[in-house]
Amino acid sequence: MSPTPKTHVLVTGGAGYIGSHAAVALHEAGYAPVLLDNLHNSEMQVVDGVRKLCDHEVPFHAIDVRDASALESLFRDCIEAGNPIQGILHFAAHKAVGESVAHPAMYASNNVGGLGTLLQVASAFDVRNVVFSSSCTVYGEPDVVPVDESTPFQEAESPYGWTKQACERVLKDHAATHVAHRVALLRYFNPIGAHPSALLGELPLGVPNNLIPFLTQAVAGIRGALTVFGGDYPTPDGTCIRDYLHVMDLAEAHVAALRWCFDQTAHTPVVRSFNLGTGQGASVLEVIQAFERATGETVPFTMGERRSGDVVSIWADASRAKEELGWTAERSLEEALADAWRWQQRLKTR
Ligand code: UD1
Repeated sequence: MSPTPKTHVLVTGGAGYIGSHAAVALHEAGYAPVLLDNLHNSEMQVVDGVRKLCDHEVPFHAIDVRDASALESLFRDCIEAGNPIQGILHFAAHKAVGESVAHPAMYASNNVGGLGTLLQVASAFDVRNVVFSSSCTVYGEPDVVPVDESTPFQEAESPYGWTKQACERVLKDHAATHVAHRVALLRYFNPIGAHPSALLGELPLGVPNNLIPFLTQAVAGIRGALTVFGGDYPTPDGTCIRDYLHVMDLAEAHVAALRWCFDQTAHTPVVRSFNLGTGQGASVLEVIQAFERATGETVPFTMGERRSGDVVSIWADASRAKEELGWTAERSLEEALADAWRWQQRLKTR
């Protein structure tokens, strides 16, 4: 189904890192994003960035996805305004592995409970198309790389990982009992980078857990040296390997997945998982070198102990997304790192 000005798409977690970039990609593809976020881990300035890039008033609702009555009002208001929600990109969730170990119930409540509430309300308003923000964490430590979608799930390494596995299961079971529901489960590898305008990017609150925000803050002098977590892994240079993909490539994959949902014609439910990555692994040391090449900056780093819970190596076989969604990651690691650095520089001067 081609987008029309009336194809309104709810973006939960729309003020978050990936949700905000996806909202811009939706707008660029001709859809009308409607942002929802409880602003627990984000700021209104992100919504301002989305609005600047979309060049018009993108609606924003400060709602928690667990608040069923607020969700009902939103869906009803959209119908009454002649703009029914026709699809959902569901990002709203907690995402920090370490925090999930400390607060497993909070993760279950927000990630799994939030999805449950959203699905109950969405079904009541007959919204059938859902694109879900899953993660390669569902695979745990894989026996074979690259991983494709048929790779069996291992025991989740963290409560965060378990919530992603559980949400996928909830979506499959929910769709199975509803006519013509279409669900795309998008398993992201490691999203990095920022919008090339530097109007949007990752906004970590406090000390970043993830590699790229820590690295850029270390280079900017906001943090001390980056600690490389483990140099004695069974990899060519001893550091962990991941599949880093540009957040704009990831954002565009959501548009492709939504279009795929709209294009399904069967009355039977369709649920499909898609790996989203570049298909290339890079070690932590390779990322540091690529950053230095891309920006001309020097990364201060020291070798440290392994971080508990880290998998050694994982990268994607993303051929299903290419064949069925017509999507491939197009931007390079260097481009993503240059964009992340441009965003960090803007943050520093703001
Ligand atoms: C993990 C999950 C991912 C999830 C993300 C959320 C896996 C395979 N991936 O990503 O699904 O969305 O958490 O937070 O489970 N590193 C350092 N120093 C640092 C920070 C990181 O060396 O200061 C290294 C890590 O050891 C790792 C790599 O950088 O090898 C990437 O780490 P990070 O950015 O935290 O992402 P993942 O842990 O891969």
